Amino acid sequence: MKGVILHGGSGTRLRPLTYTDVKQLLPLAGKPVSEYALLNLIEIGITKINIIVGEVGQKEVIDYYGDGSNWGVEISYTHQGKPLGIAHAIGLTEDFIGEDSFVVILGDNYFQGGLSELKENFEDSGNDCLIALTKVKNPSQFGIAEVDKGRIVSLVEKPKEPKSDLAITGAYFLTPKIFPIIENLKPSWRNELEITEAFQVMLERGMKIGYSLISGWWKDTGTVDEFLDCNRMVLDKIQLGESNQNPTPDGMLTGRVKMGKNVTINGQSRILGPCYIGDDTVITDTYVGPFTSIGSRCSIKNVEIEDSIVMDGSSIELNNGTRISRSLIGSNVSMKPSTSKTRTIRLVVGRDSKIEL
Ligand code: DAU
Repeated sequence: MKGVILHGGSGTRLRPLTYTDVKQLLPLAGKPVSEYALLNLIEIGITKINIIVGEVGQKEVIDYYGDGSNWGVEISYTHQGKPLGIAHAIGLTEDFIGEDSFVVILGDNYFQGGLSELKENFEDSGNDCLIALTKVKNPSQFGIAEVDKGRIVSLVEKPKEPKSDLAITGAYFLTPKIFPIIENLKPSWRNELEITEAFQVMLERGMKIGYSLISGWWKDTGTVDEFLDCNRMVLDKIQLGESNQNPTPDGMLTGRVKMGKNVTINGQSRILGPCYIGDDTVITDTYVGPFTSIGSRCSIKNVEIEDSIVMDGSSIELNNGTRISRSLIGSNVSMKPSTSKTRTIRLVVGRDSKIEL
């Protein structure tokens, strides 16, 4: 079995971060969200993986994953260019897949329970396709499967009037029989070749499509709130491993605080886990509350922060007792106290930024 991880798409709901960064490389506890997908594939024994790259950040994706040898697997790349749909992206992998069965993961999806059970179910069933379903509260935002007596009856992309609350998550087990179906798809209203429609055509042609309800937690990290919720989920399960070798004065750390190399915690700081602090970061006179991920090479001074993500190379100093909460702060951001004596603030903020003061 081979693996495919999607890194294309436009990430509009995570702007402005996705003007410059690939959404699948945004970090959860110091690892790109798509690295969890890669680890899911490795865990089920897949060693040949193709990554689809889009228009934004191809170089960053290729620089990060390289030939896969850091993970002991073989990684190759396919260039999709414009985001013409998930089915379009899958269609481009036909040569890579050859005669093998394969699993596709959307690089912005997080599967906490792994894929082992799904793989077993797919292999035992001899089906042409297995989709992973889970119950959701907001079904009109997903591809939705209608199921009757253990069989899939219909599949619709983001229906206005959903016939069930079973969302199609972003893990598909497939055989090459999907390729001729994709070739004949027509673009949808959003000008994409829809994977949900490909599945519906397979169903109508009497091909064998099975499903499994996923065990464990699943998240599509497509929006700021979903991304932060996923960060909470990852930190909630974080293992300390060999971290926390950094000398830290007594009483500063409480709970599970995973740290990279060379982290310095100074002054009157207090860190309350679960949280993550990346390599070479300096924390001074700061409260870091639960569910916070701070990247590498950051400097955080006189700040209160909780339930947030700060990406690599950012420098934050506040001095005013304001607490940062439920925030997503990109890389190389600089925030510092105003030197003005009046209550003035100075902002240099890019398009689509969101600020609550
Ligand atoms: O997350 C699950 C949902 O993902 C499913 O329930 C839907 O059936 C499926 O269509 C998809 O919906 P989204 O609207 O969330 O898809 P999005 O455009 O966010 O793309 C999902 C992933 O696929 C994301 O990692 C980007 C990648 N992608 C997307 C498109 C459209 C590509 O690599 N190429 C593309 O052309």
